Amino acid sequence: MSGTSLDGIDVALTSLSESGEFRLVVAETFQFPETLYRKLQLLIVNQASNLQDLGEIDIALGQLIGSSINTLLAAQKLDAKDVTAIGSHGQTVFHSPLGEFPFSLQIGDASLIAEITGITTIADFRQRDIAAGGQGAPLVPAFHQSLFRTVNEDRVIVNIGGISNITLLPASSDGSVIGFDTGPGNVLLDYWTKLKLNKPYDHSGEWAASGKCNNEILRTLLDEAYFKQAIPKSTGRELFNKQWCETKLAGYKQEIPPSDIQATLTELTAQTIANDISTYAKSYSSVFICGGGAHNNHLMNRLQALLSDKKIATTAALGLHPDWVEAGAFAWLAYRTINNKTGNLPSVTGAKHPVVLGAIYLA
Ligand SMILES: Nc1ncnc2c1ncn2[C@@H]1O[C@H](COP(=O)(O)OP(=O)(O)OP(=O)(O)O)[C@@H](O)[C@H]1O
Ligand SMILES: [Mg+2]
Repeated sequence: MSGTSLDGIDVALTSLSESGEFRLVVAETFQFPETLYRKLQLLIVNQASNLQDLGEIDIALGQLIGSSINTLLAAQKLDAKDVTAIGSHGQTVFHSPLGEFPFSLQIGDASLIAEITGITTIADFRQRDIAAGGQGAPLVPAFHQSLFRTVNEDRVIVNIGGISNITLLPASSDGSVIGFDTGPGNVLLDYWTKLKLNKPYDHSGEWAASGKCNNEILRTLLDEAYFKQAIPKSTGRELFNKQWCETKLAGYKQEIPPSDIQATLTELTAQTIANDISTYAKSYSSVFICGGGAHNNHLMNRLQALLSDKKIATTAALGLHPDWVEAGAFAWLAYRTINNKTGNLPSVTGAKHPVVLGAIYLA
C-alpha cells in the first residue's frame, strides 16, 4: 500500500485462516529512493509529467514494491512458496469517480511484482467497483467491518491518511455499514509544513499546537462544496491540494503567523471529521483512529474535544496497530479475490451490487 501522503510503501505480512480470521505477522514501511520520490511528486503533486514518465514510474514502482516484499520475506526467513498472494493497491495517480467516464488510476506494475516475487499478485482493486457504478472508494470499510464490527457497541473507524475516511459499524445487524471520505487528513498539514518548515510533517502536531486557530480562515476553508456533498463520496489530491490551499488562503497569509495557519488547517481536519461523525453517528459512543494522523497528538486532542461525548482511541485498542490497517486491508481484499468472494460494500461505494475486486496476475 502506498497512500496519498507519498510517505513510503507499507508492506504487511498477514495470516488469514480458512474462516477468514485475520492476524498481522509483521509490517514495515519502505522509503522511496530520492529520485523516484521526486518523480512521484512531479507526477501526482505537480501534474507535470509526460506519458513516458508515467510508464516508467509505473515500472519503477512495481520494481520497488516487488523488492520491498522480497526484503521483508527474507528477514522473516520466508520465501515465495510460503505466501499465497499479494494484494497491491499501488499508488493512486488520479481519482475521478464522477462524470461521464469515471476512473481511478493506480500504478505499480503488478506483472512485475508477480515476476520479481514469484507470488500471485492481485491489483487494480478499484476498477471493478467503478464498472459496477460505484466510486471505487473507499474500499477499506469492508475490512473494518470484517475485523472490527461487534454486536456489543456501535463503532466508528476513522482512517486519517492523506485523505480521511470514516466507517460506521452499527452493532445491530439491521444497520448497514456506511463509509466515505470526509476530506483532508494530513495532506494539507504536510503541504504547509513542507512549505514553511521544509519538514515532511508536523511531528505530533507540535507546530499546530503552538499556533492559534484563526476562525475567519477556518470558515473560509469549511466553505467547500465537498463537505456538503451527499454520500456516497470519495476524494483525493485532485481537490485538496496546494492550489486549493493557495486559493483559500489568498489575501490572508501575509499577516498571519504560519503556525496559526497550521493550527487552522489541523482544526479543519478535526472539524470535518467530527462534523460527519456528529451527523452520521450521533448516538455512537466509540471512535477508533488509524492512519498516520493517529500520531498527531494535537489532532487527536482536538477530535476528543469536539467529540466530548465519545470515547476516542486508536485501533491498537482493537488489536491492530493504526499504522497497518490500510495495508492489512489490501491483504484481506486479495484473500477475498482469490477465494472468489466479493470485496466492495455497495452501501459505501454506491455500486449497484457486490463484486469480486481486482485483477489476478498469476505467479
Ligand atoms: N509522528 C507523527 N506526527 C504527526 N503526523 C504524523 C506522524 N507520523 C505520521 N504522520 C502523518 O501521517 C502521514 C502518513 O499517514 P498514512 O501513511 O496513514 O497516510 P497515507 O499513506 O496517505 O494513506 P492513505 O491511503 O490512507 O491516504 C504522514 O504524511 C504524516 O502527515
Ligand atoms: Mg502511508
